[in-house]
Amino acid sequence: MIKFYKNALLATIACFFMLVLLNFTAAAQQKQFTPGQLWPDDKGVHINAHGGGLLYQKGIYYWFGEHKIAGGAGNRAMVGVHCYSSKDLYNWKDEGIALAVSPDTTNDIAKGCILERPKVVYNKKIKKYVMWFHLELLGQSYKAARAGVAISDKVTGPYTFIRSYRPNPGFMPYYPTGTSDADMVNCEHPKNKSDGFFCRDVHGGQMARDMNVFVDDDGKAYHIFSAEENFTLDIAEMNDTYTGHTGKFARVYAGHQTEAPAIFKHNGIYYLIGSGTTGWAPNPARWFSAKSIYGPWTYRGNPCVGKDAEITFGGQSTYVLPVAGKKDTFIFMADKWTPKDAIDGRYIWLPITFKGDNIEISWFDNWDLSVFDKTTK
Ligand code: DGJ
Repeated sequence: MIKFYKNALLATIACFFMLVLLNFTAAAQQKQFTPGQLWPDDKGVHINAHGGGLLYQKGIYYWFGEHKIAGGAGNRAMVGVHCYSSKDLYNWKDEGIALAVSPDTTNDIAKGCILERPKVVYNKKIKKYVMWFHLELLGQSYKAARAGVAISDKVTGPYTFIRSYRPNPGFMPYYPTGTSDADMVNCEHPKNKSDGFFCRDVHGGQMARDMNVFVDDDGKAYHIFSAEENFTLDIAEMNDTYTGHTGKFARVYAGHQTEAPAIFKHNGIYYLIGSGTTGWAPNPARWFSAKSIYGPWTYRGNPCVGKDAEITFGGQSTYVLPVAGKKDTFIFMADKWTPKDAIDGRYIWLPITFKGDNIEISWFDNWDLSVFDKTTK
């Protein structure tokens, strides 16, 4: 009997120490990025914010992304948009669901719809946080191709869904001065497939799939999205509340099928990184540069170098983060999708290196922000 009590006591003590250890592991401070590995949040749970983007506010970074569930069903929006916060970019606190899908099957953001690549910006005029995302209506696969918008008074939410639609109905593209007639779309005689899709959609608005939002130095915001059955990227001016489009937009790299756009600005030059269109499978990234947001944009090739550069190290771009207060410091953020078990998707964050106005992205098994002190020339 005494032996039984002794064993039970020992087992209880062992359990206690294991719990303490687990708790300690969950809260262990991370000091580096480990691309492609599990990335535990403050509770020790792998971060669930896929196709994400960041917003920096008063010393804190907020990471918004798609909350995925296990299995193939996780590729649809069963929960909503998840938010995390961090002061150092390595350690992330779970802030919960910022935008929840609706239980009402007739709602645009009904549970089971496709809600991808959420991005949040702050609008000073209305003093609200504005979230944009790619929305596909319940049961319609990728047919609807809409942009969705939600707003909140508080950065972490809850966000209120406003509407979803196809941008810029009735508008023709804006062309930089000097564009020749041959390079302009002519809906009486569309010259190729992408022009044909563009003209088909003029009346109802352009398709809006993979997307991002970029706020320029002058406070103007732009929505960039895959349009025309993904054949072209549109860069569209947003109104002064960031909750709608003005009708002014440029078509970028028409006819080449680009997804996963991410824009940033460095030394007055605009940079755009995107991918090809191969579903969840990785393909070579591509980058472009321009002196004006409306172009002309120059195709610059694949920014990735080294092993697996031709598959973007297994990832697909989602955002480029300018690190606050650090000159020349930009982080390329990508998703390593795992469509069979969506929740297990990984994050690939890598430093961007500038060589003049050229950019390069190399693989690191692990790294920290001090690499920027060495790599930028
Ligand atoms: C690639 C896109 O970049 C993703 O956001 C997602 O829409 C998948 N295609 C779906 O196949």
